[in-house]
Amino acid sequence: MSDARVENGAESGRGTAAEAGPVAGSGAVLRPHTEDAFANELSALAAADDRPRPERWRLSPWAVATYLLGGTLADGTVITPKYVGPRRIVEVAVTTLATDRALLLLGVPGTAKTWVSEHLAAAVSGDSTLLVQGTAGTPEEAIRYGWNYAQLLAHGPSRDALVPSPVMRAMAEGMTARVEELTRIPADVQDTLITVLSEKTLPIPELGQEVQAVRGFNLIATANDRDRGVNELSSALRRRFNTVVLPLPATPDDEVDIVTRRVEQIGRSLDLPAAPDGMAEIRRVVTVFRELRDGLTADGRTKLKSPSGTLSTAEAISVVTNGLALATHFGDGVLRPADVAAGILGAVVRDPAADRVIWQEYLESVVRERDGWKDFHRACREVSA
Ligand SMILES: Nc1ncnc2c1ncn2[C@@H]1O[C@H](COP(=O)(O)OP(=O)(O)OP(=O)(O)O)[C@@H](O)[C@H]1O
Ligand SMILES: [Mg+2]
Repeated sequence: MSDARVENGAESGRGTAAEAGPVAGSGAVLRPHTEDAFANELSALAAADDRPRPERWRLSPWAVATYLLGGTLADGTVITPKYVGPRRIVEVAVTTLATDRALLLLGVPGTAKTWVSEHLAAAVSGDSTLLVQGTAGTPEEAIRYGWNYAQLLAHGPSRDALVPSPVMRAMAEGMTARVEELTRIPADVQDTLITVLSEKTLPIPELGQEVQAVRGFNLIATANDRDRGVNELSSALRRRFNTVVLPLPATPDDEVDIVTRRVEQIGRSLDLPAAPDGMAEIRRVVTVFRELRDGLTADGRTKLKSPSGTLSTAEAISVVTNGLALATHFGDGVLRPADVAAGILGAVVRDPAADRVIWQEYLESVVRERDGWKDFHRACREVSA
């Protein structure tokens, strides 16, 4: 089995990052990989985890689920929740990775598909970087392998000249591979994955060889509900996946919780102060987004038109983060209505004509009448003018 390993596998990935020198630059990275950002939690979990681990898993399925959902370990270590949502979803996702079926995370934009996939790969394999980003231009080589042309011309096809894809490396090393935005990849290229997922091999006809997946290999794909119809998944491929649908946050409280946590994390990495007094604004942003998304006010009394943009949790997070930056650099550090008004307008009004009408209607019929929303109404009118 070990013959099937790709000898130069590790060289094209993180292994060389430290030696890359000129490319790596100095200074702190803007966004550390998940497994580095949460290294403490992951090692505390590994130390506390006495349940059986599938081969080559860093943690047991129970510990992976705890890593995602949060909890407190026997030694008092607090594991922060990464995913806020139904426990069962996470349990099914983790369990799938321990079977011979791959995992497809499906959902509308901003439902944490990428976020969950990254954390799962980090917890299961300790490496979230074996990633293929799906686009309309993703070639087969991105999923299978490419060639180092200098080597190829000098010495002909050989294992040394072969440049393995992240999927090939994951197969050879028994790791978790990730494919982002699977349905954006052209259908014939998607189908490359069928052999990988059903036969668990990747043939290399040029060398008369193949790479066989070793235990521990699996694959997490994400796909956007809205992209349906761009490139449908073929039914042959779909059968190789267990599909887990990630829902929008069930309650306003859940969504406020998600936004607060993420804004805190992002704020820390941008050196913004914590916003103890920002809760009112966070709740307001979430309320506006949920009402416009649902086409109904929170009290269920007034029907609303929904604008064309996706008012996802992810968008709410970025509106609040921008607001916090405004408050920090140009205000008194407290998140106020004026700091989020422009961001909300930008998120809601994507189509300048139709969305603007919808927004004005909402502003005048809902926001204006609401107790305690006067300042916010004024701030919105100022930026909408
Ligand atoms: N239920 C949730 N629990 C925790 N975080 C969430 C949740 N929903 C959204 N988020 C946050 O929203 C942000 C965006 O998520 P992500 O980019 O993973 O969405 P996505 O589903 O991949 O969207 P897209 O379809 O646009 O790619 C992340 O920062 C994530 O933390
Ligand atoms: Mg995504």
